[in-house]
Amino acid sequence: MAAQTQSNSSNNDLGHSTFLENDVPMQGDGYYNSHSALQAAAMHRALSLFDTISVNTTQKSDKFTVAEYGCAQGANSLLPIEHILKLRHSGDDAETVESHLIFSDRPGNDFNTLVQTIEQAEFLKKPTIFTSMVAKSFYERVVPKNSVDVGFSLATLHHLQQSPAFVSTQNDAERSLELNRQQAHQDLVRFLTLRSQELRRGGTLILSFVSRSSTGTLNYPNLIDSCRQALVQMVMDKKITPEAAGAFSVPTYDRTFEDVQKSLAEIKHLWQMDELFEAEITHPAYEQLQKAQASGADPETTSRSYADTVIDWMMAVIAGYFTKALQIAAPQLDGNARQELLTEWINRTKDVFLQKHRDSKVSCWFIFVKLIRL
Ligand SMILES: C[S@@+](CC[C@H](N)C(=O)[O-])C[C@H]1O[C@@H](n2cnc3c(N)ncnc32)[C@H](O)[C@@H]1O
Repeated sequence: MAAQTQSNSSNNDLGHSTFLENDVPMQGDGYYNSHSALQAAAMHRALSLFDTISVNTTQKSDKFTVAEYGCAQGANSLLPIEHILKLRHSGDDAETVESHLIFSDRPGNDFNTLVQTIEQAEFLKKPTIFTSMVAKSFYERVVPKNSVDVGFSLATLHHLQQSPAFVSTQNDAERSLELNRQQAHQDLVRFLTLRSQELRRGGTLILSFVSRSSTGTLNYPNLIDSCRQALVQMVMDKKITPEAAGAFSVPTYDRTFEDVQKSLAEIKHLWQMDELFEAEITHPAYEQLQKAQASGADPETTSRSYADTVIDWMMAVIAGYFTKALQIAAPQLDGNARQELLTEWINRTKDVFLQKHRDSKVSCWFIFVKLIRL
């Protein structure tokens, strides 16, 4: 189902003429579902926001619609949906109310695994619950106007619509950060404007995205360093060209609190802000590592297992961007050759992590937002 497109050329209001479209899905065949424990922990942190959604009287008299924006393979969708449905499927009309659940993600997403994930959820088997899937970017309209009661989008919005910093500013980190910051502002305003058309008045929208901590703590710096060092090694060993390494770019931006406040101020006529907070989410494997160490387990096995888990977690999101870099900068390589290089990069990244950053904590900051449609 995945469709890769190459770089786009057009003018945008960031004053740039060349940028890379962000169309890379999470790793397919269920790989993302099995390697998204940190996102699962972030989802658990958001559950209290779901439990305090108020289902108003308009919504009570109508069909109840829930839309998820950026569901990936569904593993982290089910619990929020269960919490939302509990709110609506309780009370006088619990047996008669009909709910429509809409799962959306970009066209390249692994929708086959999503179907299997939904199929396995017992609580969705009621005859009054209907599900749909939409293969569309959330930077476009995804569902009809005025149709959604509750929307949510978890661990998604740090993924930019496109990478404005891709070509001309690769070597200018400050300028690149500023372009991404502007793109992230445009993207959030656009996302919230589109959702304001889709959500009914009084409807609730819950968001989480990777952020830049106000404490100054960096997000998983040791994983990033390991990936970079492994990439450099592969260039030095002539496994990939400098151009291929240079084409590797993950179009994300970690917003600060101030960035988010600025974007929310621009759409305050559309949305009332109910909650806004940041939190550090640690990869659950770190606690398991500490428990294993305390119980006297073999240190080498424990450290390797931890390295495997946290690197595989990161690769579930970024591996596709490595493959895309090869498609752009080394188009002569076939699918098998690309897969071999990807495997080598992953293995080298694990080795660097074990050598230089063994057992170091992997955590990531998120901003959580709850909005009510005015
Ligand atoms: C890190 S995953 C998070 C998935 C899931 N919500 C979770 O919490 O595990 C990010 C997801 O956002 C999706 N995504 C990124 N940009 C998107 C866009 N413009 N439109 C729709 N989905 C997008 C990706 O395809 C991916 O499935």
